[in-house]
Amino acid sequence: MDLAIDAPTPAAPDCADDGTWLACIACDETFAPFEAVRYTCDECDGLLEVRYDDPPTFDEFGSGASSDGPDRGVWRYREGLPFDLGVTLPEGDTPLHRVPRIEEAVGVDALRIKHEGMNPTGSFKDRGMTVGVRVAKELGVGALACASTGNTSAALAAYGGRGGMQTLVLLPEGKVAAGKIAQASLHGARILEVDGNFDACLDIVQELAARGEAYLLNSLNPFRLEGQKTIGFEILEEFYADYGTFPDRIVLPVGNAGNTSALYKGFRELVQSGALDPDEVPKLTGVQAEGAAPMVEAVEEGNDEIRRWEEVETRATAIRIGNPVNAPKALPGIRNTGGTAVAVSDPEITAAQRHLASEGVGVEPASAASLAGLKKLRREGVVDDDERVVCLTTGHLLKDPDAAYEAGGDPEPVPNDADAVVDHLHD
Ligand code: F0G
Repeated sequence: MDLAIDAPTPAAPDCADDGTWLACIACDETFAPFEAVRYTCDECDGLLEVRYDDPPTFDEFGSGASSDGPDRGVWRYREGLPFDLGVTLPEGDTPLHRVPRIEEAVGVDALRIKHEGMNPTGSFKDRGMTVGVRVAKELGVGALACASTGNTSAALAAYGGRGGMQTLVLLPEGKVAAGKIAQASLHGARILEVDGNFDACLDIVQELAARGEAYLLNSLNPFRLEGQKTIGFEILEEFYADYGTFPDRIVLPVGNAGNTSALYKGFRELVQSGALDPDEVPKLTGVQAEGAAPMVEAVEEGNDEIRRWEEVETRATAIRIGNPVNAPKALPGIRNTGGTAVAVSDPEITAAQRHLASEGVGVEPASAASLAGLKKLRREGVVDDDERVVCLTTGHLLKDPDAAYEAGGDPEPVPNDADAVVDHLHD
């Protein structure tokens, strides 16, 4: 399949259902979207992409009128989605924060923070789940499953619960932040802790899905990415409303590279519909932690394939991933938009987390990787001072209370006495 930005809109094959179908990005084979459960290509095991014969334009997006339902958040973009409404909490409509002090410190023409931590379960995963669980209902499956570094499991548990379905999550033992396990647990997921890393969990859950135990809702599932592409639509609309142009660059944390793939797909569809010029597509810029950076390695070495890292480590546990399964979609996205990928150290991530918090934006460590990456690329001169940039922050501060506590200041014990407290303050 041609993943170029300006690839023409493909003609609908006979298997299309109401102008929607699945296509393999490796061999171009096409499939009916809702007839059978399918995650990858039957012919070559390549990644699948959801396709439409009529990609959306900005004019077709809804107005954002109602408080819950089709005009709100993700579903405002229903013209670009496989359904008109999903299992919703509702999700999307996240803030695009101004951060003037950070903007000045970084030294770019404009910097905005798209804070996806403000979704119902505190991460961007909700955008994918509202679509994914809707598709699960269409397919008539009863149980849902995912492997997760935490956020996907929280979102799956919440949206599965809302949809009245059973949920099963596989987590790497000892490597998931407390807030996320608490969410998955209270929303009713059955939680299996695997003696291995995230990539091992994903291998196992794929096997479970192949054996029919549950419907897989990791970002390998192409319908998840449909919901997540609305992040890009929101950024373009909100940014344009304030600046009269689109951002030059979007910087985002990368784990499985689902978001990178999703944003690129959304932008390609806007180009296909004529709503966006190819040269207006923001440069997609991925950031990984130094201890888990196979995408950065592939971009730097110009490889089309990822080398799986068996040993991964970073305090940003959400992106502690050595085998980004969506790389075949994300690498063309980074290259064809003129973007890049960069790795940052854990101390750089912590510094960026503190910097965002100082301006009121509370994010978990993985999210702060985007700002840390932007700072590094500014220092290296890769990002120019006249650029207008959006950094994506993917998860809320409270997801990882331990990391927040470590990065923040310590509470000071004082006696139960006003005079003593005043003395303490002036010490
Ligand atoms: N940021 C956060 C907070 C995440 O939870 C994740 C992924 C990413 C970034 C990376 O996004 O995979 O689209 O490149 N978390 C998954 C999970 C793996 O299980 O919650 P990606």
